[in-house]
Amino acid sequence: MYQNLLKYKNYRYLNLSIIIIITSLVIYLTQGTEQPANGGTWQGYTLGGFAAFLILLLTYLGIRKRSYSSRMGTVEGWTSAHVFLGTSLLLIASLHAAFQVGWNVHTLAYVLMIAVILSGFYGLFAYLHYPQVMSKNNSGGSQNKWLQELAQLDEELKNLSSSCRADIRLLILSAIQNTKISGSLFSQLRGKDSSKIKIQSSSDKLVSNKNQQRIISFLASALPSSINHIEAAALDEILSKFSRRQRLLKIIKRNLQIKAYLRIWLLFHIPLTIALLAALIVHILVVFIYW
Ligand code: HEM
Ligand code: HEM
Repeated sequence: MYQNLLKYKNYRYLNLSIIIIITSLVIYLTQGTEQPANGGTWQGYTLGGFAAFLILLLTYLGIRKRSYSSRMGTVEGWTSAHVFLGTSLLLIASLHAAFQVGWNVHTLAYVLMIAVILSGFYGLFAYLHYPQVMSKNNSGGSQNKWLQELAQLDEELKNLSSSCRADIRLLILSAIQNTKISGSLFSQLRGKDSSKIKIQSSSDKLVSNKNQQRIISFLASALPSSINHIEAAALDEILSKFSRRQRLLKIIKRNLQIKAYLRIWLLFHIPLTIALLAALIVHILVVFIYW
């Protein structure tokens, strides 16, 4: 869906934004005869009122996205409009304020608006870029498919481990049990693997099994000293299944990392929007009380 976002209906909202920007510039340039350009002239009020209207309209996307029964345009159309109108706000609000910014409550609204727009740029980049990265990572499969394969692999490994010596069996079970797939949003973003393994049955101490490296090295070194051919055959199979497991975990974790990249910016975009609306109300109230 997001691939066609910018081109939606032959650049309908890019064209609309260009018309809005030109009209705003014309309105702005008609100032300066009676009093210098600022937010308090009729032109300033018009531009400010329109900027506030646009902000409300953009905020409405959050509601529209979730009301699937709505017939008011498609989500794709709304999002395309959102991106272009949101970007045009940068200029419209600056023209409204006649580029006069200072350390005051009015500028707070302006700064918050810029922060919302910048986080929106990142969001747009993420929505256009990461779905492709994810489909390359999945190469035709899906997160569900990998998770199912992993669960099956773990069952097979548990069964195979019964043909091994007790110490090896415990290591295998511990590696499976202490594999860490998901975590906090921050650890998903970092994509760090904090899987662990217990290497001494006498102690509860867990050591790092990052990328299943520790268990794979252990199995590789245990293979030549197998006690009989049944264990040797089982270890051989276990080793290859752990290699597959290592590959699967990498794909699954990368998918989680990409999903986190796709979500993280909304943790800024939405709260900043709320702060912007609050600052805007204060700005308008202050202006009407003191102006
Ligand atoms: C209904 C909407 C709005 C009204 C009625 C309004 C009204 C005003 C007025 C009367 C001024 C002149 C105040 C002065 O020069 O001291 C002003 C300035 C300003 N407005 Fe607005 N405004 C609106 C929307 C906005 C929006 C959407 C933004 C940006 C997010 C914004 C940011 C500013 C800034 C930065 C100034 C300049 C403050 C300064 O001179 O230091 N305003 N506004
Ligand atoms: C002051 C301007 C803006 C406001 C108030 C605003 C507000 C919002 C809100 C409330 C949402 C809904 C989030 C949700 O509920 O999931 C949203 C989503 C979004 N915004 Fe903005 N935004 C602004 C500017 C921008 C800009 C300039 C861009 C990009 C250039 C942008 C890109 C997006 C994208 C890509 C989404 C997600 C749409 C989706 O998930 O389908 N926003 N924005």
